[in-house]
Amino acid sequence: MDVQRWLSSAVAAVEDWQDSFGPYQPDASMRISDERFASVFGEFTQRLRNNYPFFHPSYAGQMLKPAHPAAVVGYLTAMLINPNNHALDGGPATGQMEKEAVAELAAMFGFGTHLGHLTSSGTIANLEALYVARELHPGKGIAYSEEAHYTHARMCGVLGVEGTPVAVDGAGRMDPAALDALLAGGRIGTVVATAGTTGLGAIDPVHEVLAVARRHGVRVHVDAAYGGFFTLLAGLADRAGLDEAPWRAISGCDSVVVDPHKHGLQPYGCGAVLFADPEVGRFYLHDSPYTYFTSGDLHLGEISLECSRAGASAAALWLTLRLLPLTPDGLGQVLAAGRRAALDWAALISQSGRLELYQQPELDIVCYFPVTAPATLSRIDAASVQMLDHGMKRERPVFLSTLRVTAAGMSQRHPGIEADAGGARILRSVLMKPETEGYVGELHARAEQLAAQAAG
Ligand SMILES: Cc1ncc(COP(=O)(O)O)c(C=O)c1O
Repeated sequence: MDVQRWLSSAVAAVEDWQDSFGPYQPDASMRISDERFASVFGEFTQRLRNNYPFFHPSYAGQMLKPAHPAAVVGYLTAMLINPNNHALDGGPATGQMEKEAVAELAAMFGFGTHLGHLTSSGTIANLEALYVARELHPGKGIAYSEEAHYTHARMCGVLGVEGTPVAVDGAGRMDPAALDALLAGGRIGTVVATAGTTGLGAIDPVHEVLAVARRHGVRVHVDAAYGGFFTLLAGLADRAGLDEAPWRAISGCDSVVVDPHKHGLQPYGCGAVLFADPEVGRFYLHDSPYTYFTSGDLHLGEISLECSRAGASAAALWLTLRLLPLTPDGLGQVLAAGRRAALDWAALISQSGRLELYQQPELDIVCYFPVTAPATLSRIDAASVQMLDHGMKRERPVFLSTLRVTAAGMSQRHPGIEADAGGARILRSVLMKPETEGYVGELHARAEQLAAQAAG
């Protein structure tokens, strides 16, 4: 895709639409000459060089990558109009696009009925799910795994609800037996299952969590902010294919969050929350005297906690989904390549004398650490941090990230490592760009070199 070409088409299309309203004079107070802009823009683009190369396969660190060019063009085109999807009065076209895109997300998870909308982030989307959970089970707490995203505990605090972490198994997945014991106490109203944890990419057994929760009359919310689009690989007869059970179970849960700004190729901020029961819309009722006047149809602000939201986000997602639909051979191909990259790198690390795999990747996150002598947590911590640091400073840099693991987590997986500290930082690479599949050999070679240096 030639982004320059499509951006100029975007400007032309919007100007053509603007011209249909007749001429007007922009105010002098807003005028900026091209010469003045050029000098500031030069400084601005220079400042932006201070960034990590998220686009390049040598960036194998955090959950970050550029948006798809189609999403960028979609976003910028709509942004020239700057609709606000709070109300259909603020953005009739993008409001409709949002409803269509959200319906596609609901269908991807197999929701028969749904109520949902985009949000500015996964955090806000989860906040909405927990808010509805609180309204439906007043006075009851919310449970989530020890490996759940940190914002669940934070949002429980915001909502004034007691949050309780549930123990995980040896692969970082919620332990259904521990959940059963907790729910038997009767204090919990909602359990959050994470389909793809942020640290390890572990998938809670949603099907088992759902069965346990239903036995106790408890709601289930699925945080699939990071992992949700991997549902496209469920049951696929391909080595990137995933066990269907947890993914298919999402259709029976009460709510789900997925972040198009993570694996959906979208710019920040684009999260989404979906409820299976449209009746929960009643918890959002408000009576503002200054909204909603051109349409009797449902306004997105009537079913969301946030007020203003970028219509451009919905436009970008809608356009992207028309081009890369939510099918195994559409967006699924993009995720499958990252998943194969993770499997390939994990296989190389398993055979390496310099690196050790923390655990087998379930999605596209690979966690590993340098082999050190002595094999202690403090040596692993220091060597991992050195690898992170030196990797970025090399002539041909490689960008990694670290993950803090507990002594218990390490000894469950690697009993030979001496726990001389409470935990250690290890290395974590999110392989979310499909281009990484062809770059795994290079990443591995560089990581092995760094590990050799760090151990020496
Ligand atoms: C599982 C999970 N939940 C929630 C979040 C928070 O999402 P956001 O950063 O969009 O607020 C993340 C972010 O990585 C995540 O991985």
